[in-house]
Amino acid sequence: MRKLGPWEVFELGLGAMPLSIEERPEREKAIEVIHHALDSGINHIDTAFAYYLAGGTAENGEEQHNEKLIAEALRTYTGDKSSVTVASKVGHFRYFDHTGKAMWGQQGCSRYILDTAQKSRDALGVDAIDLYYYHRPDLNVAYEESIGALNKLLEDGVIKFAGVSNASVKQIEYAKSVLGEKLIAVQNQFSPAYTSTLDTLEYCREVGLTFLPWSPLGGFRNPDLLVKDGVFEEVAKRYGVSKQQVILAWELSKGEHVIPIPGFRRFETMDDSIKAVELNLTEDDLKILG
Ligand SMILES: NC(=O)c1ccc[n+]([C@@H]2O[C@H](COP(=O)([O-])OP(=O)(O)OC[C@H]3O[C@@H](n4cnc5c(N)ncnc54)[C@H](OP(=O)(O)O)[C@@H]3O)[C@@H](O)[C@H]2O)c1
Repeated sequence: MRKLGPWEVFELGLGAMPLSIEERPEREKAIEVIHHALDSGINHIDTAFAYYLAGGTAENGEEQHNEKLIAEALRTYTGDKSSVTVASKVGHFRYFDHTGKAMWGQQGCSRYILDTAQKSRDALGVDAIDLYYYHRPDLNVAYEESIGALNKLLEDGVIKFAGVSNASVKQIEYAKSVLGEKLIAVQNQFSPAYTSTLDTLEYCREVGLTFLPWSPLGGFRNPDLLVKDGVFEEVAKRYGVSKQQVILAWELSKGEHVIPIPGFRRFETMDDSIKAVELNLTEDDLKILG
């Protein structure tokens, strides 16, 4: 188990995005995947307001698809869910560009953040959202305004704890100066194929924040992304395990404060990836993997 603010959570969280966006499974299957994660001991679920199909609206019920899906999965789960925490995010929305391509729009103004948090709280069916991230800095809005809105949500009890995502060290430092102990998590892209955020992972270790790598396996559209000249495959072959297990074990080795949140649409991939927590990579392995 690892620390996420006041909570003890399993070493891997469930990144729920692939259950709601393009190429998603049937709703019933998606619910089964969430139940399977809970049965397997995963007790932290990552969602966002924006995890729905581009073109979706509140009127057609598509907006907030993932938050509503998770709420339903938790409602219908018959096992113990007393330790389950759910994180959501604000700042993105979906739309089609003029060529018909599915896009991720951004909105970071205070009014939008305050209103959207209420919608997320309602969709999740909770009194207060466990952990709420500012999804991605909106370059058209001062970071101070967006973080100020998170602070207001904390003061008003709409959210219990705050996080920032896609944030630089400077932005994390700023968020910490405003939100203090209520800032508990940073969610940045990090994988063997994407290491430019290593400075933020290390900064989080220094200041006691949990670091949750997103797309820890290279992204759900590129699960077989070639990484580091085949060294992950080489180590995987030696242990007779999948490359994904080695990747997740490598990320976990970066510090006790790291909790990757891989996405799954199938039981098989989840069952395989979960074994990463039992894979003890040696110093020699880590030297090769970097
Ligand atoms: N904060 C942000 O801006 C941001 C951005 C993107 C994502 N996220 C979060 O990060 C989470 C994870 O990212 P992601 O879903 O993009 O990508 P990912 O976790 O890097 O990759 C997920 C893909 O890996 C496959 N997979 C998992 N374990 C495997 C195994 N053992 N063997 C083979 N394939 C395996 C899954 O396959 P199947 O689907 O076939 O099971 C899935 O397609 C998201 O769900 C979301 O919660 C956050």
